[in-house]
Amino acid sequence: MPNPEGAAAPPLPYNDRVVRQFTIMTVVWGIVGMLVGVLIASLLIWPDLTHGIPWLSYGRLRPLHTNAVIFAFGGCGLIGTSYYVVQRTCQVPLISDKLAAFTFWGWQLVIVLAAITLPLGYTQSKEYAELEWPIDILITLVWVAYAVVFFGTIVKRKVPHIYVANWFYGAFIIAVAVLHVVNSAAIPVTLTKSYSAYAGAADAMIQWWYGHNAVGFFLTAGFLGMMYYFIPKQAQRPIYSYRLSVVHFWALISVYMWAGPHHLHYTALPDWVQSLGMVFSLILLAPSWGGMINGMMTLSGAWHKLRTDPILKFLIVSLSFYGMSTFEGPMMSIKTVNALSHYTDWTIGHVHSGALGWVGMITIGSVYMLVPRLFNRPGMHSTRAIEVHFWLTTIGIVLYIAAMWIAGVMQGLMWRATDENGVLVYSFIESIRATYPYYLIRLAGGVLYLSGMLVMAWNVWKTIRTEPAPQPVAVTAGALS
Ligand code: HEM
Ligand code: HEM
Repeated sequence: MPNPEGAAAPPLPYNDRVVRQFTIMTVVWGIVGMLVGVLIASLLIWPDLTHGIPWLSYGRLRPLHTNAVIFAFGGCGLIGTSYYVVQRTCQVPLISDKLAAFTFWGWQLVIVLAAITLPLGYTQSKEYAELEWPIDILITLVWVAYAVVFFGTIVKRKVPHIYVANWFYGAFIIAVAVLHVVNSAAIPVTLTKSYSAYAGAADAMIQWWYGHNAVGFFLTAGFLGMMYYFIPKQAQRPIYSYRLSVVHFWALISVYMWAGPHHLHYTALPDWVQSLGMVFSLILLAPSWGGMINGMMTLSGAWHKLRTDPILKFLIVSLSFYGMSTFEGPMMSIKTVNALSHYTDWTIGHVHSGALGWVGMITIGSVYMLVPRLFNRPGMHSTRAIEVHFWLTTIGIVLYIAAMWIAGVMQGLMWRATDENGVLVYSFIESIRATYPYYLIRLAGGVLYLSGMLVMAWNVWKTIRTEPAPQPVAVTAGALS
């Protein structure tokens, strides 16, 4: 299948309004979420920065950051691109414009409610599933509507084949529905308070089955769908191996589900479950790297394009970070390695090499590809600004993750250091003091990354403000200036 859209020209008007809305909000929520990221990174250096105001405290802003970047920035990027891709690859418009509009406004309402309730301290205290039960119900309704729009469009498709990007998006939609419903099961007490339906080790196991698969399906499978459409499109090359993409899909979705226990090493979880999680995490390296290689090799014969096309740079470098974090993850899941890395900033470094590098860059690259097409402009306003954004992003990530790796290993080693009498060499506060310089470097990296997002917002704004082309234009890989 050389071309994601098949051979025929698109015959029907697609619903690009909803894609435009989601795309713009991806940029907006990205800036908001990362601004909160910069704020909490500053709070770790200057704890009194927000003068002890409860709703600006670290404990309340941290979940606001994670929810904003994962579900608002990542979620809008995923839903928007999936609507774009499913219409093009099935050659039909979305099955229902009304339902699609409901998913947009419903999702924005979820985000706004999260932005209000989390700073106020309403939380279920489950990481990445903090929102209280009424919002959980709203999420379920929006998600079911999303599934109906996406799968309904596939059912109506004009081409017999279901392009592989849709398989990844589809797995993301189904898995997230199951994870959300099972993990959020709770007994409501008041409108703003509920208790988990599970208790003890079972609660922890279900939470991390959810948590890890939120990584596997929200932060990975959906973005792989993006990768399988936008990289071949931007490179104007067929996928390196379509057969490998199918093997990649089945291997990835069948292995991910079992790896959750690596978040609970050395806990009350039965030992064999921890080992099972470790083994499946190690196996996960193979499909992850299969996918990465497939994406990268799509550039075979077109590597020269990387010199001049900063959008392609974003897309391809995102895959290097994907490869890096999916190598690091299996290593960290080995129990003896985890004994060092757990509770340290090494985990934060791993998270952000995946989040800033893989999730962030593939989304940014896709948004740059989409904007001119969605607004019928010949290209982005400024290629140079995209280039500047690329370097701000790359340098920002390197500063962030290198600082966290060094800080993490240092913390782990300091915490376990004992003298010849078996007495701890360092107090905990000494390890915190030693971490400050690295927190400053991380903050600098975060500020660079955020500045890149502001450059992007400016470039998107300028592109939208230029005169639209009188007729539909074919966007080239380049830009206006
Ligand atoms: C300007 C960019 C960003 C900055 C400065 C930043 C900063 C931070 C900070 C300071 C923390 C708390 C670390 C701790 O508790 O020790 C954090 C946590 C987290 N961030 Fe970010 N972040 C940024 C972007 C992102 C993006 C784009 C994503 C996802 C797409 C993301 C996902 C997460 C997650 C999942 C956590 C929780 C990690 C854990 O619990 O292990 N961040 N971030
Ligand atoms: C083969 C793939 C991967 C494996 C086996 C893996 C494994 C791990 C391990 C062992 C931890 C540390 C658990 C702990 O000590 O608490 C971890 C944490 C984490 N990883 Fe990965 N990882 C993988 C890929 C990724 C990717 C691609 C992303 C992001 C896009 C990511 C996001 C996270 C997050 C957010 C956490 C922190 C969870 C928390 O404690 O809040 N991982 N991962």
